[in-house]
Amino acid sequence: MQIPARMGSLYAIIVLLLLVVGGGAESASRNDCNAGDTAALVAVKAAFNNASYFASWTPATKCCHWRGIKCEYFPTTGNVNVIGLDIVEDDSVAGPIPGDAIAGLTNLVDLTLYKVPGVYGPIPKELSRISGLFALTVSGTGMSGPVPSYLGALTALQFLDLSSNRLTGHIPPSLAAQPHITSIVLSGNRLDGRIPVEVLNLDGLQFFNVSNNRLCGMVPSGSTARFGDSAFQHNKCLCGDAGLPPCHTN
Ligand SMILES: *[C@@H]1O[C@H](CO)[C@@H](O)[C@H](O)[C@H]1NC(C)=O
Ligand SMILES: *[C@@H]1O[C@H](CO)[C@@H](O)[C@H](O)[C@H]1NC(C)=O
Repeated sequence: MQIPARMGSLYAIIVLLLLVVGGGAESASRNDCNAGDTAALVAVKAAFNNASYFASWTPATKCCHWRGIKCEYFPTTGNVNVIGLDIVEDDSVAGPIPGDAIAGLTNLVDLTLYKVPGVYGPIPKELSRISGLFALTVSGTGMSGPVPSYLGALTALQFLDLSSNRLTGHIPPSLAAQPHITSIVLSGNRLDGRIPVEVLNLDGLQFFNVSNNRLCGMVPSGSTARFGDSAFQHNKCLCGDAGLPPCHTN
C-alpha cells in the first residue's frame, strides 16, 4: 500500500502515541502499586530511618518488587494494591512501629514483623484501622505495653501471633469479638491475670498458645485437651484442667 508522505508520518505519530499511552497505563495499572500505597511505604521507610533492609525501596524499582512487599491486582478497580508487608530477620530496622504510615496501606491483608529486635514501643492503635487485615504477626521484637483491646476491631483477623515480645498486662476479652479468628499465639511475653473464658470458648479457635507468661487462675476443663498441655506451660499459677496443678479453693 502506498501512503502519502504526510499521512505516513501522521500514522507513525499516532502509533507512537498509542504505544506511549498504552504502555504507561499498563505499567501503572498492572506492574506497580498505586500512589497511595507507594507514599505509605516511603513513610514507613523514613520512619525506620531508611534502614538497610529497605535498600530496594527506591523509585528505580517497581514498588511491588520491593523487599517484603506483596501486591495483588484488583480487576474491579484496575488497581494494584499492596496486600502484604514483611519485615523479617533484620537487626538494622529500629524504632517504634509507624502505625499511621502502615495504616495508609488500606488493602493490607498480612502484616509481619518477625525477629526484628530493634523494633520497640507499644502496638500502635492505628493498626486497628486496617479493616481487611487477615494475619498479624509481631514476634521476636522488643515491643512492650499491652495486648491492645482495640485489636478486637480487626473483624477480618484470622491469625494473631504476638509471641516472644515484652508485652505486659491482661489478655483482653475483646479478642473474642473477632468472628473469624482461628489462631491466637501470645507465648513468651510477660502477660498476667487470667485467660478470658470467652476467648477460650471461641468456636473457631484451632490454635491457642499462652505458654511462658505470668498467667494465673483456673483454666476451663477441656482446654488442655483441645489446645495441648504445652500451650499453657510455664506460667505463674494456671490451674484446674488436666495436666495443670489443681486450683486451691480459698
Ligand atoms: C531517608 O531518605 C530520604 C529520601 O532519600 C531523605 O530525605 C531522608 O532525609 C532520609 N532520612 C534519614 C534519617 O536518613
Ligand atoms: C506453645 O509455645 C511453646 C513456646 O514456643 C512451644 O514450646 C509449645 O510447643 C507450644 N505448644 C503448642 C500446643 O503450640
